[in-house]
Order: sequence, then C-alpha cells, then structure tokens
Amino acid sequence: MSDTKKLVLVVACALVDSDNRVLLAQRPEGKSLAGLWEFPGGKVELGETPELALVRELKEELGIDTKVSCLAPLTFASHTYDSFHLLMPLYVCRRYWGTPQPLEAQALKWVRPTKLRDYPMPPADEPLISHLIDLL
Ligand code: C5P
Repeated sequence: MSDTKKLVLVVACALVDSDNRVLLAQRPEGKSLAGLWEFPGGKVELGETPELALVRELKEELGIDTKVSCLAPLTFASHTYDSFHLLMPLYVCRRYWGTPQPLEAQALKWVRPTKLRDYPMPPADEPLISHLIDLL
C-alpha cells in the first residue's frame, strides 16, 4: 500500500536533574495537542543534525546550554498521525548549564519517572516512558 504522508523529524530530550527527575513541558494554547505534556524538543530544520537541533531547541525553549557530547540517544518514537508520520529520537541529557525557564509560555514540571504516566502526552510520546523507567 502506498502512503503519501510526509515524514516529520522531531527530536526530544529527557532532561534529568540530580534527583533523577525528568522535565516535562506542557504544549501551550494555540499549538496542536495543546495541554498535553511532552519531552522538550522540536523539529529538526534543514541542514541540522538531530543533536544540534536539540541543543538549539533547549536554548530557545528553556534557556539552557548543553553540548552534543552531553546527549545520549535512548530510543525513538515512530507514530502515524492523520496527516504525517512522526519520527522522534529521544535523547537523555544529564549535563546542562542554567535553570530551565518557560521561555515559550509553556508550563514546566520535574517528574519522577514512575509518575510520568500521570501526565497526558501525545500518543507518540507515551511509548517512550517505559524506556525511561527502565533507564532511571
Ligand atoms: O512541536 P511541533 O508542533 O513543532 O511538533 C510537530 C508535531 O509533532 C506536533 O504537531 C505533534 O503532532 C508532534 N509531536 C509529538 N510529540 C512531541 C512533539 C511533537 O507527537 N513531543
């Protein structure tokens, strides 16, 4: 069967603090899937590697600095939405500089891995949780 949906590449990050908690961001009003909680990140732009896209997104969304060498790939999500297919690698980052701030009006929450399922997430993100629980 042919599938004409385009492939969208989004990169996401499990930012982990010294207490082993993971940062979730709530998608703000006006965005698709508003109100759902997600791992910070965003679309990979033309000419970027996924890792550099994530370094950029973490700076833009949260005001923190990190380095490509501080990003460890964990797993990826592959999910078909109505109008596109999403491929989303998930990296784990424990080393970053600065305190995450909600620079895009998104709510932020540090969450223990076993509590991640209490936060409604986009369907693509949900299968990532068990990988984080296993790791953390
Ligand atoms: O964040 P952005 O809106 O650019 O992401 C594009 C699309 O990717 C979203 O509309 C959403 O369907 C999907 N997405 C997702 N999980 C994320 C980030 C984005 O399913 N953590």
